[in-house]
Amino acid sequence: MKRLWLAGVAFVISGGSSLCAPRADAETIDPTFDYHSYANVDQFRVRHLELDLRVDLKDKTIAGVVALELQRLDPQATQLVLDTKDLMILGVSQKATDVLGATANAHAIWVSRPFHLQKPDPILGSALVIELTPSKKGTDVIRIDYETLPASAALQWLTPKQTARHKAFLYTQSEPIGARTWIPLQDTPQVRATYKAKVHTDWDVRAVMSAENDPKARRGGDYTFVMPQPVPSYLIALAVGDLEFQETGPRTGVYAEKSMLKAAAKEFADTESMIQANEKTFGPYRWSRYDVLVMPPSFPVGGMENPRLSFITPTIIAGDKSLVSVIAHELAHSWAGNLVGNATWRDLWLNEGFTDYMESRIMTAVYGEQRASMEAVLGLNSLRADLAKLKPADQILAIDLRGRDPDEVFSEVPYEKGRLFLNYLDVKFGRERFDAFLRGYFDHFAFKSITTEQFLAYLQENLLDRFPGIVTRDQVNAWVFDSGLPADAVLPVTTMFQPVDEARAGWLAGKLPPKKFGMDWIAQQWLYFLNNMPATLLPAQLADLDKAFAFSKTPNAEIAHSWFKLVIANNYQPGFPRLEEYLNTVGRRKLIAPLYEALLNTAAGAQVAKRVFAEARLGYHPETIKAIEAIVDPQERTSE
Ligand code: BES
Ligand code: ZN
Repeated sequence: MKRLWLAGVAFVISGGSSLCAPRADAETIDPTFDYHSYANVDQFRVRHLELDLRVDLKDKTIAGVVALELQRLDPQATQLVLDTKDLMILGVSQKATDVLGATANAHAIWVSRPFHLQKPDPILGSALVIELTPSKKGTDVIRIDYETLPASAALQWLTPKQTARHKAFLYTQSEPIGARTWIPLQDTPQVRATYKAKVHTDWDVRAVMSAENDPKARRGGDYTFVMPQPVPSYLIALAVGDLEFQETGPRTGVYAEKSMLKAAAKEFADTESMIQANEKTFGPYRWSRYDVLVMPPSFPVGGMENPRLSFITPTIIAGDKSLVSVIAHELAHSWAGNLVGNATWRDLWLNEGFTDYMESRIMTAVYGEQRASMEAVLGLNSLRADLAKLKPADQILAIDLRGRDPDEVFSEVPYEKGRLFLNYLDVKFGRERFDAFLRGYFDHFAFKSITTEQFLAYLQENLLDRFPGIVTRDQVNAWVFDSGLPADAVLPVTTMFQPVDEARAGWLAGKLPPKKFGMDWIAQQWLYFLNNMPATLLPAQLADLDKAFAFSKTPNAEIAHSWFKLVIANNYQPGFPRLEEYLNTVGRRKLIAPLYEALLNTAAGAQVAKRVFAEARLGYHPETIKAIEAIVDPQERTSE
């Protein structure tokens, strides 16, 4: 299949047909084709990358060189097409064919090559087209000198004031299609490459990457990294800041700014037990170390599974390990996603659904059935809330994302519906068979990226056909290709929410004073308590709750989020100062976007949202700013 770019809109020509069809529905989807990359992966595949980067925290730029080692699949190919977005390309050269040795070797001879950047597409960026000559050699090495621009969406530059230690901080968030905003490469998860990197920065900060990090490395401004296992581009990650390290186990530890280090190490003390629980069931942890990097509060996601070094929001450090399922989740990605991952963003559910399922298994093994069952029911409830809002096409696991920004189509569907699908298979086939199946799956596809269809073929052969008469292919297809939830889904249940429902009902009826309940509840029960309040409450009722349970002062960012939803829905003025503070410190999209949305429901709320956002945006990640702008200022955005 070939693709043409016309005025920034993708047109696809398939199978030699001369008919130009606008993307979206007119043409059936090609599951093997990544609609979010320009890379001509049928002709070239990057197998290894070498980066040599200077991170300038004052100027907010990364400048340097990437050398791409390419496997040439087509000897006739005369163009290499790479993904870039908001990058300044300074030069492109090719390693002279007769020189052997390391790619970025100073003695290599580089011959410059003609290149041009194509007209940018607002979502995908600009294709970088490099002219090459046909070659029968199986490999090419291309070197690109480049510099990032301030607009780079994957980079967040924090000024010293925005960090705990008053030193500047940089981090990347490459998933899904952000890697191209700081490295010119084939930015598609179908391609996996090993990498090496040299990073140069200020002498008094530390750089870490999603690679082998040496916790004992001395500061001094120069750092080297090796990632010996092939990873997709969205897993290349870098952070630079005033980071210290503390060990939490033989192969686990925490990087954080000093003020957070102790609390983080305490909160994440069970990481080694989590790894062991997963290894027992799903096979060895294959990435040697597993460390966690505690991010600044503006980090836009809860966690990011960067290999060997998950990036984690500080909002899960509640002091009582109540939110560590995020660690279980990012760790589980070391199998689901990082080891066997999605080939395109349509297949994201292979990453997130499998991971959510495994997260539950880890939580059960380490913290027990009750805790895991409560988390599963809370997950189901948020899935239900999303399904009620999403159009049918967006309720499908194998979602059609053509023409859309994968970052903006974000819901619980790949996560919770994916988890329920695996849960269904687990229950139908039995734990023993299903575990053996998953273990075999991780072995079979280790270090590969696969499509939904490849998974389905493997499932057919290794589960459906091996144990016939249990689940039909139609039943499987309904899970993957239909909207909503199949009628025979096996839903999680818990007995732990019954006392919560009773207490809430009693309190609402005025029969049960707050001091009579909640003494022994854990965070998940409080979330359930707050999330299921009626649409309206009286100011006196909210005051009663806050007085008894101090919700507005809770150190638990999730509970605070649920509380602020009530504060906003009921326009409970005494709750607003803390809400503003929260919006000004937390940048995690999942926690703040719903609050801005709720504020926009009333004219007075909209005023508050606009005022707070004007200030708070300075501390948000570029992608979060985009998302909140779309909520707070929808017209402004469309007229841009
Ligand atoms: N890989 C995701 C984050 C992600 C997904 C970033 C898609 C960009 C595009 C990560 O593993 C994740 O799922 N994080 C969750 C936490 C989790 C416990 C559900 C989050 O950020 O909320
Ligand atoms: Zn995830």
